Amino acid sequence: MSSISEVSQWKYTNFLINKNNNFNKKEILKILSSENIDEAYKTISSWNNYSPTPLISLNKLNEKLKLNKIFYKDESKRFHLKSFKALGGAYAVEKVIKGNNKKVISTATAGNHGRSVAWGSQKNGLKCKIFISEFVSESRAEVMRNFGADVIRVKGNYEDSLNECIKQSNQNNWQIVQDVAWKDYKLVPKLTMAGYSVMMKEISEQIKNEKISHVILQAGVGGMAAAMVAGIVKYLDYIPQIIIVEPDSAACVLESIKKGKIEKISIDKESIMGGMSCGEVSLIPWEILKNSVHYCVTISDDYISKTIKYLANNQFSDEKIIGGECSTPGIASLVGLSNNDEIRETISLNKDSSVLLFGCEGDADEELYQKLLSQ
Ligand SMILES: Cc1ncc(COP(=O)(O)O)c(C=O)c1O
Repeated sequence: MSSISEVSQWKYTNFLINKNNNFNKKEILKILSSENIDEAYKTISSWNNYSPTPLISLNKLNEKLKLNKIFYKDESKRFHLKSFKALGGAYAVEKVIKGNNKKVISTATAGNHGRSVAWGSQKNGLKCKIFISEFVSESRAEVMRNFGADVIRVKGNYEDSLNECIKQSNQNNWQIVQDVAWKDYKLVPKLTMAGYSVMMKEISEQIKNEKISHVILQAGVGGMAAAMVAGIVKYLDYIPQIIIVEPDSAACVLESIKKGKIEKISIDKESIMGGMSCGEVSLIPWEILKNSVHYCVTISDDYISKTIKYLANNQFSDEKIIGGECSTPGIASLVGLSNNDEIRETISLNKDSSVLLFGCEGDADEELYQKLLSQ
């Protein structure tokens, strides 16, 4: 078993300070309102088997990095869906179907969002059509079928699967439940984000009197990150340093923050962090992120399997943690940032810092998880 001491060699790839940071609580809650957030918590907390996911202390990693505390929100335990996405898609299905007579739900997905939409459709007695690209594993497709969905594989990448989903949904009068926004399609992505904000409500209660100094948020299209920012405004009475982490190969938020406008990037090589391999930040999240993010960082895929192993072998914490590929970049980037003295100074990361990380998923793709674990 390799030793955790090797983390002292880990590095982040790119780091950016957001020159346009101008955190404005009022503006943020105009985009995702306090009422939307309350309503999501009220609904989701009333679902069968709801309970908050654990907030785990990565005490062993903390000793190594010499910070005050590292909190890890363990979304592998989110219902039986193994990722935070369970909170978004399923909630949006339930809300959007009220007041319309559509009987078929559709979506495009990298995996976890589709699982949530399939689960929500099944719970509400609706049919579900899910479009996936050639990069989504059969193991993920099978789980969605087990939730009663028809899974349609589309040649090409995520964007191709989304285009096909929109085309067929328009032809057949299906209700699209997508987590990305586009012109004239903003309500459902907002509902999805409102669902995710439940994580922040739970965290605000779990940290008790502890004050979070830094939050590292993974971004794909930015929905989860923006929802957490809105949750911070709603549930905390202070603003921690907000850091976005993305794969090197899909840093669409970093590039947009750099340019001060949405910047579409081309992905030459898909990251193993499939849910985060996105080329363009979504409209609604962008409105929140553009002025609220303090820093952006990117990380290589090289640390994924090591991080998964250290989590599983309780080398970061007293507890054994099942963290899938998208659970790793928060940890790897924190290590990379902490290893650089100049950056520590710049972002005030020190022995008084309490950092919040998101373990976004467990072994949601079991095959990939086992492969990464055994590498
Ligand atoms: C499995 C998974 N999908 C997607 C994302 C990204 O979420 P979003 O596309 O809302 O930014 C994450 C974030 O880490 C994730 O873990």
